[in-house]
Amino acid sequence: MSTVLITGAARGLGLDFVKQYAARGWKVHACARDPDALSGIEGDIEAHRLEVTDYEAVSALAGTLQGEAIDVLINNAGVAGREATVLGSIDPDVWRQTFEVNTLAPLMIAQAFIEHVARSKQRKLIALSSRLGSIALADTGRYAYRASKAALNMKWKGLSIDTAGKGMICVVLHPGWVQTDMGGTAATLTIEQSVPAMVKLIDGLKQSDNGRFINYDGAELPW
Ligand SMILES: NC(=O)c1ccc[n+]([C@@H]2O[C@H](COP(=O)([O-])OP(=O)(O)OC[C@H]3O[C@@H](n4cnc5c(N)ncnc54)[C@H](OP(=O)(O)O)[C@@H]3O)[C@@H](O)[C@H]2O)c1
Repeated sequence: MSTVLITGAARGLGLDFVKQYAARGWKVHACARDPDALSGIEGDIEAHRLEVTDYEAVSALAGTLQGEAIDVLINNAGVAGREATVLGSIDPDVWRQTFEVNTLAPLMIAQAFIEHVARSKQRKLIALSSRLGSIALADTGRYAYRASKAALNMKWKGLSIDTAGKGMICVVLHPGWVQTDMGGTAATLTIEQSVPAMVKLIDGLKQSDNGRFINYDGAELPW
């Protein structure tokens, strides 16, 4: 049996990742600030209360799961970092919170769980990024969010180099523009179009994919 750990699992893309993997018979460690939101989903699901920026709680969970192999770790939790992005109205608190959740927390989680993933069969360390974090595709607005995801991308590239000796596969994924609380109703994709495609993509990842930035449909994205 394969095992996956998912952060931000109570709603949006994270919740559907839980449902998809549980339906395929995987053991699912579903981490959420409100684990009660996960009750009633069928499958081998262990819900854990986790605020991703509470690094003591992250370490404690890694300790609780010590000895377990985690085939796929999905750093999904994220915030939109909404601010009025015109010069003169930058909000430092929004920046700090956006970077804390979108950039630092995934690294702290990767650090805490690296050995759990390294001892598994699949050894896949995934982070949900965004094409808005691509410097090559830079556009107006969303400064904090774009910068937090660009920094996440850089860090995941570094992780892919630093963990290559352990046979890990570190990949950043863009889920598409998806109809979630974050994506909004105007988004072009439904959750059902995005998450199953990402699950299929993650399934097929090989060692040669280590260090890539990939769209939900498998297309390469420019850094
Ligand atoms: N939707 C899109 O179009 C889109 C596009 C590109 C990238 N993404 C990325 O995909 C990921 C999931 O996005 P989504 O659309 O599903 O967003 P969402 O609907 O807003 O859900 C965000 C999830 O992250 C969790 N979260 C936020 N801050 C957290 C924290 N400090 N500790 C623990 N959990 C936290 C939320 O938990 P609570 O329920 O407790 O708030 C929620 O489960 C994010 O990383 C996002 O940047 C989304």
